[in-house]
Amino acid sequence: MKVNGKSMRTIWPVENDGAVEIIDQTLLPHRFEICRLTTLDEAANAISTMQVRGAPLIGATAAYGVYLGLREDASDKALNAAYAALMATRPTAVNLRWALDEMRSFLAPLAAAERAAAAYVRATEICDEDVAICCDIGINGLPLIIEAAKRKPEGTPVNILTHCNAGWLAAVDWGTALAPIYAAHNEGIILHIWVDETRPRNQGASLTAWELGQHGVAHSIIADNAGGHLMQGGQVDMVITGTDRTTAQGDVCNKIGTYLKALAAHDNGVPFYVALPGPTIDWTMSDGLAEIPIEERSGDEVKWISGRTEEGEVVSVDVTPEGSPAANPAFDVTPARLVTGLITERGLCPASREGLAGLYPEQAGKGTS
Ligand code: MRU
Repeated sequence: MKVNGKSMRTIWPVENDGAVEIIDQTLLPHRFEICRLTTLDEAANAISTMQVRGAPLIGATAAYGVYLGLREDASDKALNAAYAALMATRPTAVNLRWALDEMRSFLAPLAAAERAAAAYVRATEICDEDVAICCDIGINGLPLIIEAAKRKPEGTPVNILTHCNAGWLAAVDWGTALAPIYAAHNEGIILHIWVDETRPRNQGASLTAWELGQHGVAHSIIADNAGGHLMQGGQVDMVITGTDRTTAQGDVCNKIGTYLKALAAHDNGVPFYVALPGPTIDWTMSDGLAEIPIEERSGDEVKWISGRTEEGEVVSVDVTPEGSPAANPAFDVTPARLVTGLITERGLCPASREGLAGLYPEQAGKGTS
């Protein structure tokens, strides 16, 4: 996607240098800065502090993190230690485990002297695969938006609500939930996106709004609590969100607040779609509510908000009474029954065991029943 008219990805290796670069997402939308990762620790830190975030990008960064670690020490012990250090960064997005499993099973049989170069190649392939997958999610989701556009009076936009950031900043390029939106925009379909601010970290207000703006897609940022009201008023034609982990029976776990949007959509007959790449499916899990680990982050993220003053300075302010504690569950589970359909790189399917097994028959047998 484009930043100030220039095509970019969210992570890339620096040619003939050995380092990897990322966009520091903690500084957006007020500052656009590129950050250099040269060690395993820096990669792990970038994931835990959310300089990079979003399920596919967490996986891609972990893959390069293994490469950076093996540059220093390529022994079996170091490979396992890199796996463990990266795995401990964030618990919910299963792409992390997927990417680390891919890297370790590819690298473990190799001689230590070959591992760093091979890790670089495999991490780069994982990134390229993610770009192709997300592009296909866009192609497969596009007909849903075309159909919605046909039902709208001529010249009026299709109104799509999205939560958090499941755009290109959350992946290597294109994104998941925003990929069909970009595909539709590029086809000339008139769109308007309702962007949930997504407290507490405001990924919607800070990141989704920024990237939609960079690409010229019309949007409005709304308070997290506004979605239900807009749906009651017929102002939302569909919801599309991403997911950090999808179980074999089609339950989806995404940024906290997604479940409330699904409930409101269900009550108002608004289609609720979830876009996901294959590596986001956890075939070992069935019941999302019982089984998916939910990341618990610092209460300070609820209490403190950062923003830009009129003078242009970026500051953090505490919006809560001194002494009040805060709780911060970062994800919630939307049961499959509330999901109208899943949009994947292999096509659309119902959010069900049969639906997912139909698209991924080679995986379906491996998980739980
Ligand atoms: O905590 P974050 O910002 O990593 O959460 C990201 C999300 O919840 C996204 O919706 C999800 O990763 C799907 S991404 C394409």
